[in-house]
Amino acid sequence: MEHVLITGGAGFIGSHLADRLIAEGHEVTILDTLDPLIHPDGKPPAYMNHKAFFIKGDVCDYDHLRTIIKDQSVIVHLASRVGIMPSLWNIKDYWDVNVGGTVNILDILANGEHCCKKFVLGSSWCVYGEGSYICPSCGVKDMVSRDEESIKKHHYQPACDKCGHDLEAIPTPEDRVTNPSSSYALTKHVQETMVKNFSREYSFPAAIARFFPVYGPRQSLTNQFAGIIPVIINRLKRKKTPILFEDGGQIRDFIWIHDAIEILMRMIYSSDDKCRVYNVGSGRQVSIMKLAGIIARVMSSKIQPSISHMYRRGDIRACYADTSRLQHDLGIFLPVSLELGIDEMLEWAQTAESCDSFEKMIDVYKNKKIIDLN
Ligand SMILES: NC(=O)c1ccc[n+]([C@@H]2O[C@H](COP(=O)([O-])OP(=O)(O)OC[C@H]3O[C@@H](n4cnc5c(N)ncnc54)[C@H](O)[C@@H]3O)[C@@H](O)[C@H]2O)c1
Repeated sequence: MEHVLITGGAGFIGSHLADRLIAEGHEVTILDTLDPLIHPDGKPPAYMNHKAFFIKGDVCDYDHLRTIIKDQSVIVHLASRVGIMPSLWNIKDYWDVNVGGTVNILDILANGEHCCKKFVLGSSWCVYGEGSYICPSCGVKDMVSRDEESIKKHHYQPACDKCGHDLEAIPTPEDRVTNPSSSYALTKHVQETMVKNFSREYSFPAAIARFFPVYGPRQSLTNQFAGIIPVIINRLKRKKTPILFEDGGQIRDFIWIHDAIEILMRMIYSSDDKCRVYNVGSGRQVSIMKLAGIIARVMSSKIQPSISHMYRRGDIRACYADTSRLQHDLGIFLPVSLELGIDEMLEWAQTAESCDSFEKMIDVYKNKKIIDLN
């Protein structure tokens, strides 16, 4: 039996991980500040496992953290400011929590008294920036960026820098060079680098989970920046048209929460003492337009999504996971289909607190000049 500390354990991924660890006989401590964006009533969520030991606290509070880490054999660090877009203007806050919290944990592991023997970091797919692409004439392209002039003409697909041909997205492997294009992505990149260095310097077993967008029950339906699936569900629930950015052709890889937890568990149990990075994705690509269609079908809604041609600065056109390393090192897993996963999420969404703040979100984007090209 392990003593596992989950920072951010009252959140979406952390609470599911706590359930699974407790079901497998481990003792779980949750450290969570109960960020009001995620927990609007300021209380630990009703879904939080009552067998977990809950501590309300902040990963930025070094002295408090030191007393908590002392007795933990495993740390899963998930506490974070989340979401790409708000990080474009909340630069200091993202840096302080994401980098500062990780600095504190690693400093305590390096200097304090503890019995910790494994550290797992929750990172993000967005460290890649644009995913990998291929040009039919010139081959694989790894450091792709988009051209504002083309975007203004509503041509969103990145083009080959040599021949100008439209590029096609291909799976992105973990050893691809990273290219963080937002403050959030940069903090995740810094967290990863710090953990890799720490693991190497102290021969400390560590692992990094690069989550692709995770969806499922308990995902916040009140935080308008929490992800596209809650946004679409919130619109359709209120019989409103989902409004898609660009032309709806953005490519993502959505992973069902229980698949993500299965992978995390394998990472925790893995005896590999090198610091491995894993893409926690399904390996399946889906366009946002297709996703909206799937959600509408599962909700038996006839409302069609509308294309807005609004482009958000810093947004990524396409990225989906190459899962070969995952399948090779941690064992084969067959991801659940989007239809099944969304069906389970909807069952929960019927009673969960939710709000549709799409228009409010657009006002914020316009105010912050995130949407200003078209
Ligand atoms: N959910 C996804 O699709 C996704 C995708 C990529 C990466 N991730 C990463 O996975 C991790 C977990 O994400 P999630 O979806 O469960 O997010 P979440 O927002 O649901 O949970 C994060 C939790 O961290 C807590 N928290 C925030 N600041 C804190 C602080 N200073 N000290 C202690 N607790 C704090 C919040 O109160 C919240 O309960 C994060 O590191 C996130 O960056 C998630």
